[in-house]
Amino acid sequence: MTEKTHDGGTHQHGHQHEGAQQGGLNLHKDADNAVDMWDGMYRERAKIWSGNPNPQLVAEVAGLKPGKALDLGSGEGGDAIWLAQQGWTVTALDVSAVALERAAAHAAQTDHADKIIWQQQDLAEWTPEPVFDLVSAQFLHSPLLPWRDSVALAAAAVAPGGTLLIVGHHPHGLPSWSHHHDSGMFFTPEQLAGALRLDREPWFVNVLTDRARTVTGPNGESGTTLDTVLRATKHA
Ligand SMILES: C[S@@+](CC[C@H](N)C(=O)[O-])C[C@H]1O[C@@H](n2cnc3c(N)ncnc32)[C@H](O)[C@@H]1O
Repeated sequence: MTEKTHDGGTHQHGHQHEGAQQGGLNLHKDADNAVDMWDGMYRERAKIWSGNPNPQLVAEVAGLKPGKALDLGSGEGGDAIWLAQQGWTVTALDVSAVALERAAAHAAQTDHADKIIWQQQDLAEWTPEPVFDLVSAQFLHSPLLPWRDSVALAAAAVAPGGTLLIVGHHPHGLPSWSHHHDSGMFFTPEQLAGALRLDREPWFVNVLTDRARTVTGPNGESGTTLDTVLRATKHA
């Protein structure tokens, strides 16, 4: 997806944005709470994301045995619906009721709507329980939510024996057309490893890397973006 930020920069996500050529999207940075900021962004367009699952999710989860999954910052639901299609029972959590309503409507057109619970929740006010076999957080970047807090919450929600999957923008890997000034929202693999103390119990690191991905810019141009990818298993 390509999202034009309030400061005029562009922000590249895992999903390709359908309407990029019509102009950008405003991330409502003047909003003083997460609901207004994200509902405001989603209301700008009838549909923002492609509906396709994020590519790193597909790459990392396709081989896992399905169980109970949590998608943090689930947006319009492309990942949650894909997970349900793979046999997972999914809790899809997002602060934006606008995004969740859209996602639920999309899911209702599939055979898997009953496998997904849509939960409106601000992560800043959420206490996780370690009950999920998979916790996925894809591009959970927000000016109002420090990334160290969101990844710690994601990690805390993983059940013993479960998998943590975190995918985000690498701060030095944004495409050439991006003028994003908020690289403090993004993280390198090394920063992620330090924040989550992945070098010690209970974690076993399966994947910790950055991966380049081809993306389409606001004028249809082709570019490259770099994803930071972590897949780790919590020891039982
Ligand atoms: C950049 S979008 C990514 C959406 C989706 N994961 C994807 O990759 O397409 C970030 C998502 O996180 C959600 N979000 C931001 N801050 C949040 C918070 N404090 N609590 C819960 N969700 C939040 C937003 O509403 C938005 O849907």
